[in-house]
Amino acid sequence: MTAKVLEVQNLKKYFPVKTNLFGRGTEFVKAVDGVDFHINSGEILGLVGESGSGKTTTGRTIIRLLDPTEGEIIFDGQDITNTRKKDLRKTYEQMQLVFQDPFASLNPRKKVGNAIEEVLYVHGMKDRAQRRERVFELFDMVGLRGEEDKYPHEFSGGQRQRVVIARALAVDPKLIICDEPVSALDVSIQAQIINLLMSLKNRLGLSYLFISHDLRVVKYMSDRVAVMYLGKIVEIAPAEELFKNPAHPYSKALLSVVSGAGSGRKKKKIILEGEVPSPVDPPSGCRFRTRCKYATELCSEIEPQTKCLGDEHYVSCHLY
Ligand SMILES: Nc1ncnc2c1ncn2[C@@H]1O[C@H](COP(=O)(O)OP(=O)(O)OP(=O)(O)O)[C@@H](O)[C@H]1O
Ligand SMILES: [Mg+2]
Repeated sequence: MTAKVLEVQNLKKYFPVKTNLFGRGTEFVKAVDGVDFHINSGEILGLVGESGSGKTTTGRTIIRLLDPTEGEIIFDGQDITNTRKKDLRKTYEQMQLVFQDPFASLNPRKKVGNAIEEVLYVHGMKDRAQRRERVFELFDMVGLRGEEDKYPHEFSGGQRQRVVIARALAVDPKLIICDEPVSALDVSIQAQIINLLMSLKNRLGLSYLFISHDLRVVKYMSDRVAVMYLGKIVEIAPAEELFKNPAHPYSKALLSVVSGAGSGRKKKKIILEGEVPSPVDPPSGCRFRTRCKYATELCSEIEPQTKCLGDEHYVSCHLY
């Protein structure tokens, strides 16, 4: 059996949007509303869904940049759901976040190599020569050999993302949460960064939670893919299976824009009608029912349970 690097159970993250006289929340954005999934060691789990479905919030809650409202986060066999911030150092070493905008995550006034040395120092590498050596090694690994003594503005966007990746790798992480890591880059550069992430994963035995709008990239990179809609995971399956046989009406529509998705010879784009409902007051029963052409009365009354359709393919829909 493969070891799980991450297991998430019934994870919820609500943001208060209205408060009463005493500062207590009275209305909440239910950004993540009860999600379950795991990531095996060495695996890439893709996470897709329309804007606002809760992907970033899921990532940031797992890495404890946000405190979960409910649920459990088991990382590398340890329950980190309620670990206090000051005791999270070990977790922060082993779980890293790479997000869309590399400029925002680098200090403009520090040479990039020095910034990474600081990370190493904080995490216990007190010997300067050893730190320097590690920085050279990291820059070599991400294809920036000899560029350690530059400032962030001296790099191109793609190179900056390489620097961020080097920093994420500095303290030997097990899991990297990649939140739209290539969306801000030129298309011509995207493939290079994707390939770098893939080769580093294989070389260092990493696992990724890979969040992206770009379904082609997700299909190419992921071992399994989870589809999120309005704070819930509606379907999760091995990537190839999901793109070939999406089961949930939402997945079918979402994936219909990618060629090769869905069965049958004639693949038509499915246009989703209507607006995404508010996550403050999501529809009763199945959240997708207001936009689903198969919806029945049952869908508005009862929330569908998750069913297994076969080899690691799970869907939450009354049609099954
Ligand atoms: N700090 C916050 N306070 C209040 N609401 C928030 C906060 N952060 C996120 N939200 C809301 O939570 C919901 C989910 O947001 P999130 O950023 O996780 O979505 P996403 O799937 O990452 O979207 P995108 O694809 O646009 O990045 C949205 O309705 C968003 O407005
Ligand atoms: Mg996001």
